Amino acid sequence: MEKQREQWGSRIGFIFAAAGSAIGLGNIWRFPTEVGRNGGGAFVLLYLLIIFAIGIPVMISELSVGRKGQKNIVGSFTSIKNTPLWHVVGFMGVLAGFIILSFYSVIAGWGVSYIFKFLNGTFTGGLSGSEVEAVFAGLSGNAIQPLFWHLVFMAMTTYIVVKGIGNGIEKYSKLLMPALFGLLFILAIRAVTLDGAMEGVIWFLKPDFTEIGIKTIFGALGQVFFSLSLGMGAILTYGSYLGKKENIPSNAMLISFADLSIAILAGLIIIPAVFAFGLEPNAGPALIFITLPAVFGAMPLGNLFGGLFFILLTIAALTSSISLLEVVVAYFIDELKWDRKKSAILAGIAIFVLGIPSSLSQGLWSGISIFGMDFLDLADSFTAKILLPLGGLMTVIFVGWVWGGKNALEHIRQEGVKFKLGGIWINLVKYVMPFVLLYILISGFLN
Ligand code: PFF
Repeated sequence: MEKQREQWGSRIGFIFAAAGSAIGLGNIWRFPTEVGRNGGGAFVLLYLLIIFAIGIPVMISELSVGRKGQKNIVGSFTSIKNTPLWHVVGFMGVLAGFIILSFYSVIAGWGVSYIFKFLNGTFTGGLSGSEVEAVFAGLSGNAIQPLFWHLVFMAMTTYIVVKGIGNGIEKYSKLLMPALFGLLFILAIRAVTLDGAMEGVIWFLKPDFTEIGIKTIFGALGQVFFSLSLGMGAILTYGSYLGKKENIPSNAMLISFADLSIAILAGLIIIPAVFAFGLEPNAGPALIFITLPAVFGAMPLGNLFGGLFFILLTIAALTSSISLLEVVVAYFIDELKWDRKKSAILAGIAIFVLGIPSSLSQGLWSGISIFGMDFLDLADSFTAKILLPLGGLMTVIFVGWVWGGKNALEHIRQEGVKFKLGGIWINLVKYVMPFVLLYILISGFLN
């Protein structure tokens, strides 16, 4: 007899886990970095538009395929349509999970090391922007230290995934989210009231339409996919543990709103702080590791808040990294018939090794440039801007044309579940999104 597939303990457990996957370094590290690189408010505006026009519809599609297929990404696609193409598409998602987690863990590792830097007083006394920059350069430029923290983070991720979904993922997510939100809120108030911060607030919120071009659109699209964990089967896999009575569209909205609000809060901390401390908004991946300590340095009990913040950031990153590893592990378990422990440990080791060049690219290997990017930026851009939107494109084609719009809608509406905008959704999925995604992908790539 088939073993009954694990399911979420409760609706709220699923929401927390899926929101936990979405909310992570993508919101707090990557979003402000991309806003800073892409001209501020115009990027934020595009980001908002794309969440509603593309992000939420793709999330509904992924959750539906996962719940219908009841398997990992490859198994879910192929249980609906078993052809080589859908094996390849599913496998692309597993590959994306592999690559994303490899650099994600390096960044998260920096965050873990910052917990200790705060607690042992490295940033005491309100360092200047350039002094904080030097502290960060000392860490990321070192060959061994960041690898150690990368290892620590991968070990934690692997440990939780070995433990399985129910008692691992749900439990951690429930505690974290409210705490993270509260602390971000306090920090945002501190940041926007710093001397000289207003200029940053305006830069963040007021779109400069001359900044809108294919580069910004391409960047915003990639950020939406990355931040909402779309295009590689993470949300799909979580959907596979979802019960039949759950309302997929309203869950998708809720998760996306939670994700968006954390990103906006993070932006309202980092960008004003950049202006207040006279730093450059386009500093790239280092941005939060330089601005945040400066903000904490300028507040009472800064070390304590700083330590707490990086603890919360680490947990937020963990609830995302476990969803990345889960995609790979669910694939190994279902398709290769390995057990969970073996799958998680082997994948964890391979991903650790793949992360080494990303880590070294911030110091020892910073001279090496591929397509004008260092290795970390390359891994990040290749996945967020190409693999994930491509996965999203294939998912909407799958739902609209292979599984079939009518069948998908029926699946979502089973057991009397309401989906008022279903007609709009399916038309978007079938007739609009394939062309829009293809257009952005091709023109962004050629750019
Ligand atoms: N959404 C996560 C974040 O914003 O940090 C990162 C991520 C997780 C991307 C899972 C993709 C994914 F499948």
